[in-house]
Amino acid sequence: MGDFRDLPGAPPTGAALAEAARLDAAGVLALDIDNGDGAFPVLLVKGAAGPAAFVNLCPHRDLPLTYRSNAVLSADGTLVRCSNHDAAFRITDGSGADGLAHGCALDVIPVTVDADGIIRVDAPGRTSA
Ligand code: FES
Repeated sequence: MGDFRDLPGAPPTGAALAEAARLDAAGVLALDIDNGDGAFPVLLVKGAAGPAAFVNLCPHRDLPLTYRSNAVLSADGTLVRCSNHDAAFRITDGSGADGLAHGCALDVIPVTVDADGIIRVDAPGRTSA
């Protein structure tokens, strides 16, 4: 797991990612954010305490977690399961939980939801899932 801010095109603190209402019925939204420095892949998922966000790249093969399907949130809402080879990551901190995810982790993007329901990049070190 690295710091998403080190990646090219990473959205800055305060950047709008999406309206929280845009998450699909399963609680997932994959999108590219472009702040003028190229597309930056983001995965938003619904957590118990609010949305969680990750760089939408699986550390197993650097493919988007949603490459084959957007159905990446486990039925109990605690894991992101990569649609490629089923690696599972905890939404609380992106850490590997099962399968090919052991020993690796997702890059967490700390987020908050503002008064208008917009999911925004939060200050470093915060997670809300
Ligand atoms: S690319 Fe995600 S498990 Fe292989």
